[in-house]
Amino acid sequence: KPNRVLVVGSYVVDLMSRTPHMPRTGETVLGGPFRMGAGGKGGNQAAAAARLGAKVSLVTKVGDDEFGRSAMSHFQAEGIRTDWVTVDPEEATGVALILVDDNKDNQIVVSLGACGTLSREDVEKVEADLAASDIVLIQLETNLDAVGTALNLADKHHIPSILNPAPYQPFDRTWLKYAAYITPNETEASALTEMEVNDPDSAASAARLLADWGARSVLITLGGKGVVLRESTGQCWHIPPYQVEVKDTTGAGDAFNGGFAHALSVGKSALEAALYASAVAALSVTRVGTAVSMPQESEVLELMEDQRNHVKP
Ligand code: RIB
Ligand code: NA
Repeated sequence: KPNRVLVVGSYVVDLMSRTPHMPRTGETVLGGPFRMGAGGKGGNQAAAAARLGAKVSLVTKVGDDEFGRSAMSHFQAEGIRTDWVTVDPEEATGVALILVDDNKDNQIVVSLGACGTLSREDVEKVEADLAASDIVLIQLETNLDAVGTALNLADKHHIPSILNPAPYQPFDRTWLKYAAYITPNETEASALTEMEVNDPDSAASAARLLADWGARSVLITLGGKGVVLRESTGQCWHIPPYQVEVKDTTGAGDAFNGGFAHALSVGKSALEAALYASAVAALSVTRVGTAVSMPQESEVLELMEDQRNHVKP
């Protein structure tokens, strides 16, 4: 029986320019190459899990426009089920304006358009499918009513859920209890806890605070500094990063979350899944782009074999 991952979230088209430096107010910069591709945190995470072999359904909305039609062919090409992708007659398909500079740093403005109107009802419609999933994966890049509904339904049916609080927006603290896993990056962990999170020690402290507030398992991704996992038992681990050549970190968090969801859905422990997801994220940063940069499982296993990463308590 194939492992089933249900993703509730955003799909947008990424419009990405390279730039020597980020423009200042009023400045026009002569940029480098432009690329366009499938994006949105929901869509990227769905693509990551699908490439790794999961049977993925994506709950999102697109517009009745060119970008919406190309979204459908993208989902089909990636093997993502489109039963719950709705076409909104009013709103345009979302877009993200992405700048990547010579330091490989990025800045993103995302205009959600259709996927920002995902409603409670849109999620309630998929209840039966959600109840038959192995894991539910949710971000904050859509309407919070849809997020809350997905978390509640997952809890109701005892399906483990992952809440990736990205991009950060304030949300109902009681949600921390519903999500089996919460996966902020440093910025999101800092915003959530109002603590400065920038290394494994500060991440472990932030994870403890989140646990005090009711969170179950907490994973804080630290980019080039690895990942801190605090299990629901209180056990804390640091997963050092895989060593790779960085080309573009946009979408690395999505690679991690899609990889983590896939690994959990095939029955791996949180620790094994975090190690696996770190390898997925590492491979994604070696390639330019977001959804398009997600690796195949064979590449992940190869990297894990090459660099026997060791977790530390
Ligand atoms: O996480 C990266 C994604 O965030 C990009 O693909 C962009 O669409 C933004 O939503
Ligand atoms: Na990438």
